[in-house]
Amino acid sequence: MDKFVVKGGAPLRGEIATSGAKNSALPALAATLLTDQKVVLRRIPRVRDVRTMQRLLVDIGAKAEVDGECVQIQVAGVRSPEAPYELVKTMRASSLVLGPLVARARRARVSLPGGCAIGARPINLHLAGLEQLGAKIEQAHGYIEATAPQGLRGAAVRFERITVTGTEDLMMAAVLAQGETIIDNAAREPEVVDLAALLAKMGAKIEGAGTPTIRIRGVEHLGGADHTIIADRIEAGTFLVAGAITAGELNVTGCVPEHVAALVTKLQAAGAEVAEVAGSTLRIRADGGLRSADVSTAEYPGFATDLQAQYMALMTQAEGIAIITETIFENRFMHAQELARMGANIRLEGNQAIVAGRKELTGAGVIASDLRASASLVLAALVAHGETVIDRVYHIDRGYEKIEKKLAAVGAQIQRVE
Ligand code: EPU
Repeated sequence: MDKFVVKGGAPLRGEIATSGAKNSALPALAATLLTDQKVVLRRIPRVRDVRTMQRLLVDIGAKAEVDGECVQIQVAGVRSPEAPYELVKTMRASSLVLGPLVARARRARVSLPGGCAIGARPINLHLAGLEQLGAKIEQAHGYIEATAPQGLRGAAVRFERITVTGTEDLMMAAVLAQGETIIDNAAREPEVVDLAALLAKMGAKIEGAGTPTIRIRGVEHLGGADHTIIADRIEAGTFLVAGAITAGELNVTGCVPEHVAALVTKLQAAGAEVAEVAGSTLRIRADGGLRSADVSTAEYPGFATDLQAQYMALMTQAEGIAIITETIFENRFMHAQELARMGANIRLEGNQAIVAGRKELTGAGVIASDLRASASLVLAALVAHGETVIDRVYHIDRGYEKIEKKLAAVGAQIQRVE
């Protein structure tokens, strides 16, 4: 198992580039199941979750050609409409094939995801939505079987609570359903908008993506498309925090500033200087004088839960007390204990973390528990005195493309060891 060895203390300076968004690439790859034509996807990040999704598609019947960040997929026929436990347990987003498979093959068998490090994360809302479109859902032996022998029918669906992949799953089911579907209380994340853009290129009739109400008029067939994935706002946000925490100066290129606006507001409140220096470049500059700023996670356009762990690392270096409230997942503070092992003063109370800042961190052996928690440990290690060894970095490889190389190129002392 790989580890990262990080020597803290060096301010990061220079230019660091954002890759394509993992959480946009995954639904885009699943959407290729909706047509027998070739779909060309560009700026696909080379991360482990993407490779897992490609493997799943190939098992289902896809032909995939990968050339760097360009992936060409053609699903001439669905051989096996199934997502097995072996894949779902390593990547919950495998449930994104459910909607497109029922729509295209009228049948899907997808393993139930089970628990995960950041919370229970059920898919009941995906299933309720599909049922409203006429799918019959049965559960046996740890698997969900969804069938719609006569095809799906459009319906009005209101999500009880906002779900990102649930919205995406249902959109992909509705594009081939008969008649109109209205999804209410839909997720407004940029990744939902990006999926809608791809589906529209394939011939789908979709309106309202990016608002709480999405309207879809089903069509009989979808065709091929050529689509470039949006920038990864969570990766860009992680780099902004890296600039701030090391009191450096970084230009984060290839990002969409609007997508990280909630984070930027907090970074500015904490005393970092952030400026848009070009349409897709954000420059962050900070000195050692950060102050605390409270944050509460929320659905987009609020502060992303996927940046909460990184922000917590930053607050260990800010003057004063910061209260961090997690509203999306019930157990997403696994990084707090590891940060505490490095010297941070963090108290957990229910869904709040109280961080007493400006603590000198010292290098230690720590364990990455999930993707974003790993990123927060890397950030803390960048300012810790001495050497930090981060174990189980396979978590970080799920969603960050060559993070150690990108950080090393702007001055971080970070090495991957086997
Ligand atoms: N929920 C249910 N039932 C459902 C679906 C969701 O109760 O059927 C609950 C979840 O347990 C959670 C909340 O609703 O408490 C929101 O979950 P959501 O469905 O929005 O999360 P997701 O779609 O499974 C995506 C991202 C996550 C990100 C969340 C929230 C992808 C592939 N994953 O997950 O990304 O944290 O939205 O923004 O898009 C990550 O990249 O590290 C990551 C975890």
